[in-house]
Amino acid sequence: MNAKIIGTGFQLPVYVADNDYLATLVETSDEWIAERTGIRARHLAREETTTSMAADAARKALAASGLRAEEIGLLIVATISSDTETPSTACRVQAELGLSGALAFDINAACSGFLYAVHIADAFIKSGFCRNALIVGAETLSKLVDWTDRSTCILFGDGAGAAVLQASEKGGVLSQSLGSDGSRWEVLFCQGRPNGNPLCKTAGQPGYMRMDGQAVFKFAVRTVPVCVEDVLQKAGVSGDEVKYFVLHQANSRIIQSVAKRLGQPEDKFPMNLAQCGNTSAASLPILLAQMNEEGKLQKGDKLVLSGFGAGLTWGACLLEW
Ligand code: COA
Repeated sequence: MNAKIIGTGFQLPVYVADNDYLATLVETSDEWIAERTGIRARHLAREETTTSMAADAARKALAASGLRAEEIGLLIVATISSDTETPSTACRVQAELGLSGALAFDINAACSGFLYAVHIADAFIKSGFCRNALIVGAETLSKLVDWTDRSTCILFGDGAGAAVLQASEKGGVLSQSLGSDGSRWEVLFCQGRPNGNPLCKTAGQPGYMRMDGQAVFKFAVRTVPVCVEDVLQKAGVSGDEVKYFVLHQANSRIIQSVAKRLGQPEDKFPMNLAQCGNTSAASLPILLAQMNEEGKLQKGDKLVLSGFGAGLTWGACLLEW
């Protein structure tokens, strides 16, 4: 049994901030951002929350799957920007959608989170724990970003994407490759809320996202091709048989470099980062749901999903649609 995607959905905040708007906040320009990253705009939450977008995306994926809420046995939300420290976003989405029969929990693997969720759901399905799983990537990165730091605030956006996975004897997840290297956690991190404990010497200001951009760039262009090759080799599938390489939407130059290293044409690497920026764990499921909505995915198509992010973490999976 493999986990197979049978429904997708996504939700983006209404408000769109273009690069010119960011140039009113920090010293930057549309030209610099577009040239270095490919990003022209991003959706930023005003009314929306991580929970509301996760629930909306999940509701759409569930409707597309044709399943009833009580048929979902597992709900995973991949996020680094949960609205509440506890309970998890997953438990709140469970309540919103009435997924009474589901085991619900969050995972934190940053921008690789959706791939980790695919792996966990596939393992739960293979073990017989459940037949149907709902996995969501949801982020409000705008609340983690330092809006005075031009090297990071230009990159990120908010949104959510979701997929329903079902046990299937044919197709679905054919192979996977995941990794993490905690020794490099300081390359990209977010300190989070201040410690209010009066006994603790580290009490102080909340921290925002901090990143060594060039180190992340080098890590991504080296690691993504290796894990993509790994999933192809594990399944005995060649790159030429793959219809689309759906990569984490961080930077168009990273995606172009990966395409070159894999010897694959760039038109097999769909992108939405010009409009959405980097939405971390939500990036892959949003793009997948948009492609599905546009009718780009046909039964039997082979797709590779791959991503990388803080941790450091990375991953890939080969799917048959
Ligand atoms: N606008 C204008 N100038 C900027 C700028 C901005 N938004 N951000 C940085 N700069 C400046 C820097 O201050 C630096 O100026 P200096 O030469 O006077 O010191 C110059 O541009 C070059 O900075 P550098 O960091 O070398 O640029 P870069 O080409 O590496 O591009 C990133 C920066 C962040 C776009 C790039 O490193 C990147 O995309 N890395 C990957 C990040 C990523 O994907 N993170 C998420 C992973 S999930």
